[in-house]
Order: sequence, then C-alpha cells, then structure tokens
Amino acid sequence: MNLKGAKVLLTGGSSGLGKAMAELLIEKGAKVLMTGRDEEKLLEVATELGAIPFQADVSMQEDVDATYEYCEEKLGGLDVMINNAGIGTRRDTIDELDVDDMIELYNVNVFGAVRMAKEAAKIFRKQKSGNIVNIASTAALKGYEGGSIYSSSKFALRGLSMSWQAELRRDNIRVFNINPSYVPTAFNQPERKERDLEDNKLTPHEIAHAVVAALEMDDRGYIPELSVHATNPF
Ligand SMILES: NC(=O)c1ccc[n+]([C@@H]2O[C@H](COP(=O)([O-])OP(=O)(O)OC[C@H]3O[C@@H](n4cnc5c(N)ncnc54)[C@H](OP(=O)(O)O)[C@@H]3O)[C@@H](O)[C@H]2O)c1
Repeated sequence: MNLKGAKVLLTGGSSGLGKAMAELLIEKGAKVLMTGRDEEKLLEVATELGAIPFQADVSMQEDVDATYEYCEEKLGGLDVMINNAGIGTRRDTIDELDVDDMIELYNVNVFGAVRMAKEAAKIFRKQKSGNIVNIASTAALKGYEGGSIYSSSKFALRGLSMSWQAELRRDNIRVFNINPSYVPTAFNQPERKERDLEDNKLTPHEIAHAVVAALEMDDRGYIPELSVHATNPF
C-alpha cells in the first residue's frame, strides 16, 4: 500500500514503539489518529508529531466506540488499525498467579485488541480492503519464568492474528502479527518513565521500520508474522 494519505488509527501512540510508529507513518504522508490513557502526555506527543490525539482506554468498550466515532469525524475513513497499546505486569510464578491480575492485563492486551479489531473489521469488510497490525512480542513465541500472565496474553494475541488472517483475507484485509524483542521504553516501568536507549539493544525505530515496511508491500501480498531481534544484544 501507499502510505501517502493513508488513514491510520493507532492505539498507545504517546510513548515508546507507538510514538516511533506514528512519527514514521506521518513522515510517509499518513494521517495518524492516536490514543493513550494519559491525556496530557498524549496531547504533548501528538502536537510534537502532528498526529490527532484522542484520549481513550482500550479496556473500556465505550472508549473504543468513542474512538471510532471520532476517527470517522476526523479521518472520514480508515485504512490501517494498529493494536499497539499494551501493558506488562510483575513476574508471577505459578504459585503466585492471581486470576484477577490476569483478567486485568488481558483486558488491555487481548480483549482491548479484540474490541478495536472488531470495529476495524466492520469498516474493512464493507470497503473490501484494510490492514490490521497487532503488536505482539517475542514473548508470544516462547514462555519464560514468571511470564504466565504477559507471555500468555501475547500468545493469545498471536492466535487472534492467525485466526483473523484466515477469516479476513478473502475480503482483501491484511493482518500482520509483529513480535518485537526487548526495547527499552516506558513499558512496565514504575511511574511510566522512559528508559534510556542502549547501544546494543533495539530502539523503537526498528519496530516502526518493520511495521511500515510490511505495510508498504503491494496489497497483493502480506507478511503474516514478523519478529524483530537485536543483532548483538550481548
Ligand atoms: N518494549 C518492549 O520491550 C516490548 C517488546 C515486545 C512487545 N512490546 C509491546 O509493544 C507495545 C508497546 O509497548 P512500549 O514498549 O512502547 O510501551 P510503552 O512505552 O509503555 O507505551 C505503551 C503505550 O500504550 C498506551 N496504553 C497502555 N495501556 C493502554 C490502554 N489501556 N488504552 C490505551 N492506551 C494504552 C500507553 O499510554 P499511557 O501511558 O497513557 O497509558 C502508551 O502510549 C505493547 O503492546 C507491548 O506489549 C514491547
């Protein structure tokens, strides 16, 4: 697809990977409407990048409905929806696992993505085109000690990506599952403070590059899954 003039809805655009995606998409000529929970931070980043901000929490169906209403008003259509909003949690072992904690995290990482994608799919099916990008994780490929909640949420998102690929491709809808490896961001940080970049680790730009490169492929093709690792993180 050609990203020039493309209408993009991105969840969690106010920091980290989402911010880098918004920046690169705007550089490519796309119009980006982005969401986040912290309104002050969202407005500041959107103004800096030239994006359209909308304060909304993907864990609330009424916020998702309001996002799509605002999106129609501001963009007048949709070409790409990126499920990027996601949260982390403590590293709980099986003995410490609490189902309520799982529900809380799943409500963002899994059910939030479902809420957003259901609405996008309605629009895309009608117009017989569209793109859904799910930001999963390399934690969706392999579990780890204490990873029951986060890792399983990303496995779930990856499973959703694959199911939606099978269901939606007949309507020319492309679904991409992106698995970033570790990137220093505000992710899972107390007080949501951005971490410093590290020379040998990935930066949000590599993930933004991967998403944009996948989208830019001609619509006749799509990349079902893409994992991004640091070359030499050791
Ligand atoms: N960083 C990594 O190492 C890494 C690796 C693999 C995958 N990922 C995934 O990449 C995605 C982005 O992570 P990141 O590292 O960029 O994290 P981040 O810096 O913490 O950014 C997360 C973004 O999502 C927003 N957000 C969080 N919960 C939300 C909700 N319920 N509704 C709407 N927006 C919400 C945040 O806004 P507020 O601050 O206002 O809540 C923020 O804009 C996540 O899905 C994460 O799981 C990250």
